Amino acid sequence: MVCLGNICRSPLAEGILKHKIRQRGLDWTVDSAGTGHWHAGEVPDGRSIAVARRYGIDITDQRARQFQPADFERFDRIFVMDTQNLREVLRLAREAEHRAKVQLMLDLTHPGQDRSVPDPYYDDDGFEVVFRMLDSACDTLFHD
Ligand code: 4NP
Repeated sequence: MVCLGNICRSPLAEGILKHKIRQRGLDWTVDSAGTGHWHAGEVPDGRSIAVARRYGIDITDQRARQFQPADFERFDRIFVMDTQNLREVLRLAREAEHRAKVQLMLDLTHPGQDRSVPDPYYDDDGFEVVFRMLDSACDTLFHD
């Protein structure tokens, strides 16, 4: 799960997916990262922590980190939150096999529409909407 700062959207995506995985007793590896380094080491934004908590999910153990090229090897699928993240991550991909792992998160619910998860950083009311988008997108991962 990749966004810009790894403090708002992708920590929510990580927390939601891990929660669903736990509920189903699955053993998948999930992590999140930001294309930027500015917030590395920080806990998620308090507004992300709060919305997750309202849905019974604790994301306070997460710490932000920057996306690394090694992540292309570590993960089978890489979900990016918006088209800027998509460009940044693809810029780091050196192999077609790596590029093929990268996908917009909202392609899961709205295939082919190039939809982005809006950056809620400057919009206190955006976190609830973002949570619901990510929750629906994560649900689709269990359908196949
Ligand atoms: P995120 O949100 O990419 O969803 O973690 C942001 C967090 C911080 C900044 C931008 C977006 N920032 O500019 O510091």
